[in-house]
This record gives sequence, C-alpha cells and structure tokens, in this order.
Amino acid sequence: MFITSSKKSMERNWLPKPIDLSEELGRYIGKQVSYATHGIHRYPAKFIPQIPRFCLDSYSKPGDKILDPFMGSGTTLLESYIMRRNSYGIDIHPLARLIAKVKTTPVDPTHLASHSRQLLSRIRADEDDNSEWIPEIPNRDHWFRDDVLCDLATIKKHIWRMRKGDCQDFFKICFSSIIRKMSNSDADSLIPEVTSFRRKLDEQGRTSFDSVSKFENTVRNKLIDAEVLWRISNELKEESLRLPTTNIIGNDARDIELDDSEIDLAITSPPYASAVHYVSVHKLEMYWLDLLDDLARLDGRVVGTSRAYVREYRPWEPRTRIPELRRLLGELVQKEKKSAYIVYKYFDDMRKNFIEVNRVLRRSGKYCMVVGENTFRKVRIPTYAILARIGIECGFEVKSMYVYDVINRHLDIPRWNNSRIEKDHILVFHRRRAPAMEQL
Ligand SMILES: C[S@@+](CC[C@H](N)C(=O)[O-])C[C@H]1O[C@@H](n2cnc3c(N)ncnc32)[C@H](O)[C@@H]1O
Repeated sequence: MFITSSKKSMERNWLPKPIDLSEELGRYIGKQVSYATHGIHRYPAKFIPQIPRFCLDSYSKPGDKILDPFMGSGTTLLESYIMRRNSYGIDIHPLARLIAKVKTTPVDPTHLASHSRQLLSRIRADEDDNSEWIPEIPNRDHWFRDDVLCDLATIKKHIWRMRKGDCQDFFKICFSSIIRKMSNSDADSLIPEVTSFRRKLDEQGRTSFDSVSKFENTVRNKLIDAEVLWRISNELKEESLRLPTTNIIGNDARDIELDDSEIDLAITSPPYASAVHYVSVHKLEMYWLDLLDDLARLDGRVVGTSRAYVREYRPWEPRTRIPELRRLLGELVQKEKKSAYIVYKYFDDMRKNFIEVNRVLRRSGKYCMVVGENTFRKVRIPTYAILARIGIECGFEVKSMYVYDVINRHLDIPRWNNSRIEKDHILVFHRRRAPAMEQL
C-alpha cells in the first residue's frame, strides 16, 4: 500500500538552500582536470579533481584523515596527497584499486625510464610463440584479431616477468590503457561493443593494430605524468619530513575496515541505481590483467547493480519510511517489480554505507557526497534527495548543499550512459549522532 507524499515533502524545502558553484567549476577543462596522474587511466563517472579539492579546502586541514568509500580511480586520494592529507580509499572494482594505487604512488622517473627501455627492447626482440599468455576471454575472437592477441601476449609476458612492485604496476596500467584501443570495440562505446561503424573504419584501413607501438607511445606519455607526481612528492618532502600516506583498504563501502572514529572527513561520488555497468566497462582490461574470474559474482556485489533474482524480489514488499522513495517505488512497481527492487536495493546499500561512514567518522566529522539525479526506466530518480533523507535518518544533518552544472569536459568516458544528469549536488552531511536506521 503506497501513501502519496505531500506536496510539501516534494518541494524539498527541508534541504539547505543550494549554493551554485557552476561558474567556479565550469572554468576547468582539458589539462586542468587531468594534471599530475589524474589522467593515468580511463574510468567512468570520474569527478573532476576540483570537486574533492573544494571539499578538502572547506572541511579539512593538512594532516587530517580522509576517506573515499567509493574511490573509483582515486581522484580524492590523489588530491588528498597533493593537499597533505592522509587518505583511505575503498572500491569493489579490482581495476579501480590498481589505477588508484598507481595514480597515488610516486616512483622515481629515472628508475621507471630505465625499466621501460629494458622492457621495450625485450618486447621488440621477442619472436617466440607466446600464446600461452593469452587469457581466457569469453568470445575472444570477437573482441581481438589474432595478430593483436599475439602482440598483447608478448607485452604481457615481459611485464609479468618483472619483479612485483610499484614499477611493475605502473607498466600494468600502461598495458591496460591500450587494451580497449587494440580491441575490435568501438572507441566511443562506454561498454565494449563491436559496431558496424568500427568495422567500416577497419575495412577502410583507418584503425591501427600495432599494439607494440601503441604500448611504446603510452609508456612515453605516462612517464611524463609519473614525473609530475614525483616532483610533487619531492616538493611535499621539502616542506615537511613526513609525506602524507595513501591507503587502499578493503573493497566494500558497506563494510569498512577501519576503527570507530578514525576519520575526519569522507568525500565520495557514489554509484547510482543501474546507471553505469562498472564491471562490463573494463572487462577486457580485467581479463588481460588476470583481475576477473567471475564477472557475474563481482557485478552482484556492486552497489547499484541491475542484477536481481526472482527469488529476491518475488517475496519483497516495497515498504519504506522515506516518502520520496515510497512514491518512486510505487511508480516503478507498476512498470516492473524487478526494477523497483533494484532501486530499493541500491538505496538500502547506501543506507549501509551511511551507517559505516558514521561509525568511522570522528564525533563532528563530515561526509561530502557528490550526487545528482538520474533516470531509470524513464522514471526520474531524485537520488540526491533520497540520499539526503537516508543520511539524516542515519545520524547526519545536511548542513550545506552546493550545486553545479555537469558538463562533458575532456574526460574520454561520458559521465552518464543513457541516464541523463544535468546538475550535480554536493551534500555536506555533519555527523550528529550514532546511526539508528535499521531498515529503509
Ligand atoms: C562514481 S564512481 C567513483 C568515481 C571516482 N570519484 C573517480 O573520480 O574515479 C563509483 C564507484 O563505486 C564503486 N563501487 C560500487 N559498489 C561498491 C561497493 N560495494 N564498495 C565499494 N565501491 C563500490 C564502483 O566500482 C565505482 O568505482
């Protein structure tokens, strides 16, 4: 039984008056949003570094402990490092964890350059049959040409034979960065897809399949980024003896491996209900890096997954205390119960995250959440408003709210697939009490 929420609750006048940051954030484009190692690897739905920087500036000081429970490619972690904060990051996605690690680990560029010379000459000189290095990829021939498979296997062999550590991880990220470009997938698709447009380009000879040259160029470019990070870390060392620490901990934002009251500030941009299929976007890279053995299992653990089983949603009753969510579930259940359940599950997982973040934050700690609205099954989801309600129920107060227009900057993966987002909100939650919300 659904109760229609009152007009008053729909007006959302229980939220603070939004402060518009569009002008301030809109000026950052191109290199300004990919400085240092921010652009080391593609990642969907990244936020621009100026957003965590704004939160760090406004709500923390050097030496503080910062947490991003949905860190993705580690934008918050790198900004924290640059601004001399210690950071902790969590992500369910194994490739995200590797990208974040490489993004935030300064490595001596002379060391990287000498390893890269050795590595590239070994790859160039190798004429062996390296097919044993080709991973098991479902439907492999659909995704890669035979000559590409051979070249990628040779590159992989020599990276995997390096000593384990920061240097090897750097080359793994360089390798990962070329996988999608060397595949048969359309470069513009978010999820790998072999399109007729791409086939036509191949037939016209307008695509390059020279993986070794591509790898060489990629290494060269990423060495420049690594050099900038190294310079930043030297500057930080000159200012103070102790460098900030970056820690990638655990992998689930609903079960955080930190003690109570350890964190000063949390900053995140969470996933949305059924918006970006994080596992599929990078599945080809993950197969090559040996990071994916069970796609369905990993996808089932992602917050916002569109995977739901009949045994889960058939007995489920769409009940909740949150008025906006109640109205939304009512609308969705009329279309399809499964869709309503997917949305409910998403918000329930976010409730678990609020409870965990509340636990690890110090008494007056803050949680900055960057979130907008999205569309699912043609239904508009006021994600930020529902999350604000859940946060309040979980012991927080929304003290400030900022808004800004989302523009597609240089980022090579669009922020949103088919679900539109035009405005993002930064909700600033202040921790007020221990959480009490045991169910939505
Ligand atoms: C919007 S993205 C974050 C992007 C990030 N701000 C950046 O700049 O790269 C959301 C992230 O949440 C992660 N995620 C989904 N479910 C998760 C879970 N249960 N625990 C931790 N991370 C999860 C996804 O893998 C994805 O990387």
